[in-house]
Amino acid sequence: MNTFRDYYNNEVKFAIREQAFSENPQHVWVITRYGDQWLLTKHGDRGMEFPGGKVEPGENAPEAAIREVFEETGGVVNHLEFIGQYYVDGKSDYIIKNVYFAHVDEMTEQVHYFETDGPVLLDRLPDNVKKNKQFSFMMRDEILPLSLKEIEKRDLM
Ligand code: GTP
Repeated sequence: MNTFRDYYNNEVKFAIREQAFSENPQHVWVITRYGDQWLLTKHGDRGMEFPGGKVEPGENAPEAAIREVFEETGGVVNHLEFIGQYYVDGKSDYIIKNVYFAHVDEMTEQVHYFETDGPVLLDRLPDNVKKNKQFSFMMRDEILPLSLKEIEKRDLM
C-alpha cells in the first residue's frame, strides 16, 4: 500500500489489490491504449486525462470503465485489466476509485463526448506530467506512475 498527498493536498491510499477499500467502488479510471498510442480525453476545465467517471446504478465497476472510455473517447474496449484501487480522503467526503488498463481496438466518432472535448492520442506521456498544467489534477499525483509501473511489471502493453 502507498500513501501520499494529491495535487489538492488530500491524503490518498493506493493498493494493487481488488476491493482493498471497497467491494463497490463508485468511481473508475482507465489508463487506455489504442495501437501504440495512449488514449486520453480532454476535459474542458481539468485538461487532459485518462477517461473515467462514476459507476451508474445497475452497473459494476468494469462495465462503468468500458462505458466511460466509449463516452469520453469513442474507443471500444477489447481488453480490460484491473490494476489497483485508491481511496481519496476529500475532507468533506471520500471517494474510492478502481484503476484499469484497457486496450481499445476501434475508434468511433461521437457527436457528443459527454463532459469532454473528445479523444487525444499521445505517442508518449511527457516526463513532466506532474508539473504540466495541460494535464488534469488526476494525472498529477502518484497514481499514474505507480499504475504504469504495475502495467510494465505485468507486461500488459
Ligand atoms: P460531480 O458530482 O460529477 O460534480 O463530482 P465532483 O466534482 O463532486 O467530483 P467527484 O465526486 O468525482 O470527486 C470529489 C472530489 O474527490 C474531487 O473534487 C477531488 O478532490 C477528489 N477526486 C475525485 N477523483 C479523484 C482522483 O482521481 N484523484 C484524486 N486525487 N482526487 C480525486
